[in-house]
Amino acid sequence: MRRIRVLGVGMGPQHVTPEVAEALRSVDYVLAAQKSSQDGLLEARREICRVHGDVPLVAVPDPERDRDAPRDYPRAVADWHEARVAAYEQVLLERPGDVAFLVWGDPSLYDSTIRIVESIHARGRAQVEYDVLPGISAVQLLAARHRIVLHEVGRPLHVTTSRLLREALETGQDNIAVLLNARLELDGLEDWQIWWGANLGTPDEALVAGRVGDVLAEIDTARAKAKEAAGWVMDIYLLRRVS
Ligand SMILES: C[S@@+](CC[C@H](N)C(=O)[O-])C[C@H]1O[C@@H](n2cnc3c(N)ncnc32)[C@H](O)[C@@H]1O
Repeated sequence: MRRIRVLGVGMGPQHVTPEVAEALRSVDYVLAAQKSSQDGLLEARREICRVHGDVPLVAVPDPERDRDAPRDYPRAVADWHEARVAAYEQVLLERPGDVAFLVWGDPSLYDSTIRIVESIHARGRAQVEYDVLPGISAVQLLAARHRIVLHEVGRPLHVTTSRLLREALETGQDNIAVLLNARLELDGLEDWQIWWGANLGTPDEALVAGRVGDVLAEIDTARAKAKEAAGWVMDIYLLRRVS
């Protein structure tokens, strides 16, 4: 049976593990979403394919997500997910061979690829089996760059998105990794400690750490600078209440 391989590739070719490199060389082509005509992450995937065995990459235009329906976010994401499943399935039916998806960071963290591949598998039109190999996530890279442990001794780590940060704070979380940031809204948290990073693992990487109230302006400037340099910005931070 043909195989789909879901491969975590970290933040670029330098993070591709020997295990993932071997899996990548084993496939006939890579399937990747194309979000726009200038898709930085697609270019990063092309570079990974080039470095690790010149594997052909088939770009699939990513269906639009309905961003006008913020109140029904889960529904909008589910519809988008279905549209992506159908688009990938179509390519799988047209092009034979084993296939890889290159997942930015690690497939287990805020990424839909495993769910999409599960759906393709469950629909049964493209007869496939699949496996998943891990990669270095942005959370790990943030910790390494700041040379920190993600939690204090024996304490928990809460991982969430900026959209759900307030909810986490209300439930008493005091050590929180935050992804998928639209903008930093940290009112009332001025005395907390923040470790922030943008475009980690790329030439435009930016890092800021300190007391929230002291470094927010610096983060805003660094974020804008990273975006200007790369044409895109992805940032992540760890927030910790100082006791
Ligand atoms: C859709 S999630 C994917 C996470 C990914 N699967 C991982 O393991 O890191 C995208 C979010 O991850 C974080 N992220 C991904 N790459 C990053 C990078 N190079 N630098 C900083 N944050 C990054 C950002 O919070 C971004 O909004």
